[in-house]
Amino acid sequence: MRLHPVIPMVVRTLMRPATIAGIDLPAGVTIGPSIIITHHRDDLHPDPEAFRPERFLEEHGNRVGPAANTWIPFGGGVRRCIGAGFSLMEGVAVLREVVASYDVEAVGDDEPKVRNITSVPRRGARIRVTTR
Ligand code: HEM
Repeated sequence: MRLHPVIPMVVRTLMRPATIAGIDLPAGVTIGPSIIITHHRDDLHPDPEAFRPERFLEEHGNRVGPAANTWIPFGGGVRRCIGAGFSLMEGVAVLREVVASYDVEAVGDDEPKVRNITSVPRRGARIRVTTR
């Protein structure tokens, strides 16, 4: 969800002028805050191309997990994904059942392609499953 966010960017139309990263933007402008660029910034995620999920067990400020607004696969603000909590709960439930019985290894490449508004594996998500 960090390296390959399903939705790489969100879109917002400014209702009033705003200054973002030192750039003055007028009302009516449409901007595309990028989830994928945020997730690949090496100041926020050192060695960003490395798949190292245990990085999320590190402490930031006074809590364990990614620092605020550095891991945003569900977007943010008032339009943040309404299914975020459900997705995370479902994902953990499925993974728990699968990895309890099987080893799962990615055998394909990880090149993405765009399908509608989502980013998906270009040649399918091929895996090798072996009984533990
Ligand atoms: C891993 C799974 C999912 C991911 C990564 C994901 C990601 C996103 C993202 C990035 C947005 C745009 C947020 C923004 O503009 O700031 C969004 C919006 C939305 N998502 Fe998801 N989503 C997921 C699953 C779900 C599920 C399971 C549901 C429904 C049960 C859902 C319903 C919605 C709805 C209704 C919106 C529009 C919210 C609004 O505009 O107010 N999503 N999602």
